[in-house]
Amino acid sequence: MIDTSNKTRIQGRIINVSSAVHSWVKRTCFCFKDMLNGKNYNGTRAYAQSKLAMILHVKEMARQLKAKNARVTINAVHPGIVRTEIIRAHKGLITDFLFFIASKLLKTVSQGASTTCYVALGRNTEGVSGKYFIDCNESDCSSLANDELEAKTLWNDTNTFLHKRLQQAPTGSSSSIFSTPYV
Ligand SMILES: NC(=O)c1ccc[n+]([C@@H]2O[C@H](COP(=O)([O-])OP(=O)(O)OC[C@H]3O[C@@H](n4cnc5c(N)ncnc54)[C@H](OP(=O)(O)O)[C@@H]3O)[C@@H](O)[C@H]2O)c1
Repeated sequence: MIDTSNKTRIQGRIINVSSAVHSWVKRTCFCFKDMLNGKNYNGTRAYAQSKLAMILHVKEMARQLKAKNARVTINAVHPGIVRTEIIRAHKGLITDFLFFIASKLLKTVSQGASTTCYVALGRNTEGVSGKYFIDCNESDCSSLANDELEAKTLWNDTNTFLHKRLQQAPTGSSSSIFSTPYV
């Protein structure tokens, strides 16, 4: 992406579709090793952790892209609450009832896509990187999501994990995108 953006002179924009749910994660519950071991797995907790990890990833990658003077930005968005197939595993009366209660807060699919489109295409977001957006506005994320050290640690742990896994994989199956540990 860095090469392409340099060649085309068009800014690359990466967007992580995160969620406001990221703020449910407490510092004491965000441990890389625990996330991988699968013990006491809870789907909702894992979802919230993954959304927090996406914002931390945005923060660290934005820092690295900036250090490289890259013509590429990366941001995170919360699309809002949208009744999509995300509830595929929880269809039923209780879910219908909860959506009915929350109906005033719900967005349509187009409304849900608007913040992503704004960050991907908007003039105001040109050059903006490492931020979190809600309702087409830059917004605050949780203090844990803003923690630079946490972002760096997660980045390094993820790289170490991927490299270990790729070394274990049969020869020829590792992709060249993993040949360098950083952007
Ligand atoms: N809906 C909400 O209220 C809400 C709120 C906050 C954040 N979000 C975030 O918004 C994003 C989009 O969610 P959504 O609500 O649109 O959910 P969705 O209706 O379940 O759509 C998810 C999409 O991702 C694709 N997908 C899932 N796993 C994949 C994989 N391993 N490889 C490639 N594609 C994969 C699915 O493809 P298939 O259809 O082919 O399975 C589907 O097109 C998610 O990151 C979600 O966490 C949603």
